[in-house]
Amino acid sequence: MTPPAAPPAPSETPAALTADEIWPFAGLRVVSGDLELRYLDDDLLLRLAVLAGQGVHEPDAMPFLTPWTRGTPLEVARSVAAYQWRNRAEASPDKLGIELAVVRDGEVLGIQGFYAGKFAVTRTAETGSWLGLRFHGQGVGTRMRRVILHLLFAGLDAHEVTTSAFADNAPSNGVTRRIGYEPNGVDVVAREGKPVESNRYRLTREVWEAQADRPDVQLHGVEPVRRFLGLDAPTDPVG
Ligand SMILES: CC(C)(COP(=O)(O)OP(=O)(O)OC[C@H]1O[C@@H](n2cnc3c(N)ncnc32)[C@H](O)[C@@H]1OP(=O)(O)O)[C@@H](O)C(=O)NCCC(=O)NCCS
Repeated sequence: MTPPAAPPAPSETPAALTADEIWPFAGLRVVSGDLELRYLDDDLLLRLAVLAGQGVHEPDAMPFLTPWTRGTPLEVARSVAAYQWRNRAEASPDKLGIELAVVRDGEVLGIQGFYAGKFAVTRTAETGSWLGLRFHGQGVGTRMRRVILHLLFAGLDAHEVTTSAFADNAPSNGVTRRIGYEPNGVDVVAREGKPVESNRYRLTREVWEAQADRPDVQLHGVEPVRRFLGLDAPTDPVG
């Protein structure tokens, strides 16, 4: 009979994993004055889903390629929750979609997200956003875009940030142009069964750094995200 294996010596016991290593986004917060982009935990997510069910745009508009805002308030709310849970489940350094809650005075106003593939290599990310309809037109969309640009350029060392908007989405094109992106081509895509032009834009690090009107922004909880993305891989002490 084979004798039972000896328990591992203390030196062989792996160090306990930290919460940051398992899920590095939980502590991410980006603050600018009274506006905060904060990791969308389930409490915020359910409040966000309620907000989405109350309307994200006028019914005759469609700012999204996937028309997730069509349907009953419950259908819209559940699709918001499912989308975020899917984003979490599929998050990897090779493909990442992180949408942060936009919070002001404890109230959830919408999301500001960024999406990237192999970010450690490309140093390029795309942004996207939406606000509850009752929060449109107050300048929040412009502020939250500037805040995520700070996270991407100052916190995550992006070289370039891109975005796009359908040609008939005046507020979204307005935010992008005002912040100084350069036009980067036009695509024709199918939206609810009809062709529509989608304007692409890019903002380089050099242009962003040269802007004098950037807001004050404080970053919290960025280091675990940098490690997850492979931006701070430990260097080989020998080589
Ligand atoms: C796009 C969105 C995030 C912009 O946020 P916002 O807070 O409404 O935008 P702001 O108040 O910061 O205004 C942005 C600019 O658009 C302009 N604008 C706003 N509404 C406009 C309208 N109906 N027509 C023309 N211009 C408009 C503003 O005047 C401003 O430009 P300015 O600073 O040069 O004056 C928000 O409108 C939204 O959530 N829309 C629905 C979802 C969506 O379209 N998401 C983006 C998909 S690409």
